Amino acid sequence: MTRPASRLRITPGGVLRGHVPVPGDKSVTHRALICAALAEGESTISGALDADDTRATAAALSSLGAGLDWHGESVRVRGTAGQPKAPGRELDLGNSGTGLRLLAGALAGRGVGAVLSGDASLRRRPMERIVHPLTIMGARIAMTDGHPPLTLQLGHGLRGIRYRLPVASAQVKSAVLLAGLAARGGTTVEDPYGTRDHTERLLPEFGIPVSVRAGEVAVEPGRLRGCDVVVPRDFSSAAFMIAAALLVPDSSIELQGVGVNPTRTGLLQVLARMGARVNVSGERLAGGEPVADLHVEAGRLKGTTVSVMEIPALIDELPVLMVLAAAADGATVIEGAGELRHKESDRIATMQAGLAALGIEMSVDGERLTIPGGGFRRGGDVDAAGDHRVAMSLALAGLAAPEPVTVGGARWIATSFPGFAERLAGAGVEAVA
Ligand code: S3P
Repeated sequence: MTRPASRLRITPGGVLRGHVPVPGDKSVTHRALICAALAEGESTISGALDADDTRATAAALSSLGAGLDWHGESVRVRGTAGQPKAPGRELDLGNSGTGLRLLAGALAGRGVGAVLSGDASLRRRPMERIVHPLTIMGARIAMTDGHPPLTLQLGHGLRGIRYRLPVASAQVKSAVLLAGLAARGGTTVEDPYGTRDHTERLLPEFGIPVSVRAGEVAVEPGRLRGCDVVVPRDFSSAAFMIAAALLVPDSSIELQGVGVNPTRTGLLQVLARMGARVNVSGERLAGGEPVADLHVEAGRLKGTTVSVMEIPALIDELPVLMVLAAAADGATVIEGAGELRHKESDRIATMQAGLAALGIEMSVDGERLTIPGGGFRRGGDVDAAGDHRVAMSLALAGLAAPEPVTVGGARWIATSFPGFAERLAGAGVEAVA
């Protein structure tokens, strides 16, 4: 894996054409690694995302006794048959909220103590949202002021619960469902928001029946059996390529085998309203997930309004949507964006600062964001604020700015999208020391 340089310099003037490869889905890779590590027997995960976040989760699973061998995008996992060993050291999940929250749920009822922590960004992220339901289930978990490190103590086993998500979080839903596999009695999670459903799609592949009804998902305790998982290409990474092709005049690209799970693709509806030319074809199922091929053509965009109901299916795409909105004709309003404050950075504050440096004043009224549109006014130096999606979004802003843009902190892109800059070289993105 090549590590991106610390800064990206963007000098627009190029064009994007042809097939652009997209890395494996981060959410599905995390889930597949964790399930395979808990399972009996061997699993093979193909099309996995090989990036810092998923490597951090994989390293934690190795410390818990699973055997993992990576061969490019294929990972062979020897599971622990539901009995992970005590890790004997703190588990470092790096930058990954998904890794830490899902692993906490997966380990809660498994008879091991463990300390789960991560980098400075992860140690600022809220954990009460998982500790609360896991504690109701009987887990004993200590945290520091609501943040990692989390200390999972040995308890007396878990009991299943019915739990209504208080926030739109697939990580909370998944942590509770994974804990439910090792509990006494069934576990039901009510999800009125329709958050991403990868966990409930994947568990049946590992031999765990899942019952899904309108707005809720239920599991019974059970043992996972090793299996072969095919990971779709990550729609959230594809979104950056889609945005780049829309912004760079005369571009025309193809993205193949991209996950188009409807709980993830809210951006496509918003882009259609903005007048974008994105064609989705050849939809098929791969490993329980729908995938399709996307064709994107450059073109002018117009502003739109994004409602709170649309947010869960495009939460990770909001930073790049802000950039597209800034480049569009007319204002864009995004309602109910408050969860952005709890991501790898406070994405409302960090994107507001990045856009302002390029002459776009995004106004913030509680959870409502207004982006004026009309195009970036200038180039300059911007900073990723330790956040991969902010780094990539601001790099795309550079593709639409009237003068060169330099993005500091670009090394964070390696958490989810190794090879990002290389794919955009034709458009004028260059890694610099
Ligand atoms: C994820 C869920 C979302 C998303 C994150 C990945 C997942 O977070 O923002 O990038 O894999 O379940 P929340 O569940 O905290 O909303």
